[in-house]
Amino acid sequence: MLSWNNGNTSVESGGATGLEQVERGAGRIQVDDKRIINCRADLNQLVPFKYQWAWEKYLAGSANHWMPQEIAMGRDIELWKSADGLTEDERVIVKRSLGFFSTADSLVANNLVLAVYRHITNPECRQYLLRQAFEEAVHTHAYQYVIESLGLDEAEIFNMYREVPSVAAKAEWALPYTQSLGDPQFRTGTPESDQRLLRDLIAFYVVFEGIFFYTGFAQVLSMGRRNKMTGTAEQFQYILRDESMHLNFGIDIINQIKLENPHLWTDAFQAEARKIILEGMELEVAYARDTMPRGVLGLNAERMEEYLRFITNRRLQQIGLTEAFAGAGNPFPWMSEIIDLKKKRISLRLASPNTRPAVH
Ligand SMILES: [Fe+2]
Ligand SMILES: [Fe+2]
Repeated sequence: MLSWNNGNTSVESGGATGLEQVERGAGRIQVDDKRIINCRADLNQLVPFKYQWAWEKYLAGSANHWMPQEIAMGRDIELWKSADGLTEDERVIVKRSLGFFSTADSLVANNLVLAVYRHITNPECRQYLLRQAFEEAVHTHAYQYVIESLGLDEAEIFNMYREVPSVAAKAEWALPYTQSLGDPQFRTGTPESDQRLLRDLIAFYVVFEGIFFYTGFAQVLSMGRRNKMTGTAEQFQYILRDESMHLNFGIDIINQIKLENPHLWTDAFQAEARKIILEGMELEVAYARDTMPRGVLGLNAERMEEYLRFITNRRLQQIGLTEAFAGAGNPFPWMSEIIDLKKKRISLRLASPNTRPAVH
């Protein structure tokens, strides 16, 4: 563990924070000085870039900028208020999705700002984290906007993560990972603490944003494809596009940390990473069963489980682990099409007449 004087007290840490005293006349930053964790080079100088992928994602995320109020909600309001517009099962899906996501994005943002950010010692990655944190705020705004537009009981929706077991289970599972890093005494710089950081990144990027979001996304987007709740579905499409970028950034940062610190990626740690991802999948399967006791919108819990096996295989492979479910196929290829849609207007798959000005 390294130590230096920050002008007030001597602090022990694995890396710089960006808050150190200005070091006049210090040598200029070299690309090779840069590292994702435990780097002591000045963090207030964005360039020279070492991790071009982080900068590219910052640019791509910024180019995808959108705001929830730009999406017309009139047809959703009309449908929600009409007595026979939606089945009871469809209403449950809308409410549970809003219940889970409205607090989930705050958890993700808090993990980024209060736990992850200070331990990532690279300016271009931090630049992306700042963009991601703003996007999480936009997502929470989008859920709040839908809840307000539909006139839902705010307390009922925002309390679901404390009151509905399958929603609470996902938040409860994730919180210990961020709490561990948020401890003011926590410092990276030892194999154990660096593995703690890596564990948090896997839990939040790969499981929370990479698995926990997918039942809700598939449900609401399937609704939009059937010409129901098209404004809400359009909001979810923009969110899914942002989330797939967050996931890809998470995968890149995890793999880069592994590359720079191969001693962390032990057999035991790989087994633990695998266990974390499979546990996450089980919680998501339970959520799918809870939100779809019967078939609805061309979906059912069995097909969602198949989709989650497919997603989980992909997540394992993305961080260099072997897949867990041989031969799992994708029953919802239309989800991949939506994820892959690039910039510009992305609601091509929806039948909504509510148009949003194309973004160029
Ligand atoms: Fe989000
Ligand atoms: Fe996210």
